[in-house]
Amino acid sequence: MHKKTINEIWAVAGGKGGTGKTFVISQIASYLASINKKVILIDTDFGGANLHSFFGIESRKKTIKDFYKDDVPLESLVTKTKIKNLEIIPGDINSTIFDTIKYNKKLKLFSHIKKLDADYILLDLGGGFNKNIIDLFLLADKMVVVTVPEITAIENLFQFIKSTFFRKLNFLLGIYGLKNFAKDAWEGRTEKDIATILDLIDHVKEESGNIGGIAIKELQNFKINIILNKVRDSSEIKEGFSLKSICVKLIGISALYSGYIEYDNHFWRNLSLTQLSNEINISLKTKKDIKRIVTNIINEKQIAIEISKNE
Ligand SMILES: Nc1ncnc2c1ncn2[C@@H]1O[C@H](COP(=O)(O)OP(=O)(O)OP(=O)(O)O)[C@@H](O)[C@H]1O
Ligand SMILES: [Mg+2]
Repeated sequence: MHKKTINEIWAVAGGKGGTGKTFVISQIASYLASINKKVILIDTDFGGANLHSFFGIESRKKTIKDFYKDDVPLESLVTKTKIKNLEIIPGDINSTIFDTIKYNKKLKLFSHIKKLDADYILLDLGGGFNKNIIDLFLLADKMVVVTVPEITAIENLFQFIKSTFFRKLNFLLGIYGLKNFAKDAWEGRTEKDIATILDLIDHVKEESGNIGGIAIKELQNFKINIILNKVRDSSEIKEGFSLKSICVKLIGISALYSGYIEYDNHFWRNLSLTQLSNEINISLKTKKDIKRIVTNIINEKQIAIEISKNE
């Protein structure tokens, strides 16, 4: 019998729509599969499931909706792709069932995901800030965000990261008997002179030094892997470094700049309908970018400033 592997879950989100999350996670999956890792890619983008299109799968007989609605075992929804070692669980674009998912059901989804037989389980969470996205993101082993070098996307990304950490902090404080403390403090932040998450934690410290210390630890362990997509020149590459420092300074989290992907001019033709049944072809440069990103994420490393100068 095939030996069951212990898997690692990576989740991709990012706040704004259309930054390339689905494209990037599909490429990450293909790369991991090419180095002989068994990968299952799950489309949990409840509003705009389209992962299947990236793998030329037209009809979606089995989708993640069946797990939520009819308690169909998650492993029976795994669908083969043309790529060796890579399988997907398609999402359901028409379903509204996800609007009402309870936290317990999300935990159940996670415990089923953990039992899937693969080395890596990748979750395409889609854009936006809703609680489903944030909760699944928080449960992952690696939290990955994809953004583009545009001010609106970057603002959305910060908002997303802040909301995500805030939700985690709120949960944590609740466990230690400070239910709603973070929420109330944030709502009254003007009077309390709280501008950043770090200020908020200082406020927690004033209430209880012990719990404040736990919150600080949590903040330090909160690692976000940033991918900058659709980059067109070296000044845009550098934006990733600024993004990372702002995360560290303003939010206090340990953000890692995992890498960037150049704007791939060959890409547009890959998603045309006539190409639907074919595997997506990307440029060699994009393949290299993806390889570097995956290696960095696995090793908790980031790109060095020198790399961007040489390219
Ligand atoms: N590096 C790139 N170079 C060129 N085009 C790209 C690149 N990355 C993504 N795209 C294009 O951008 C569009 C959006 O990509 P994708 O669907 O992956 O975004 P998304 O973030 O998943 O969107 P959504 O938030 O709607 O789920 C696609 O049409 C894709 O062709
Ligand atoms: Mg998408």
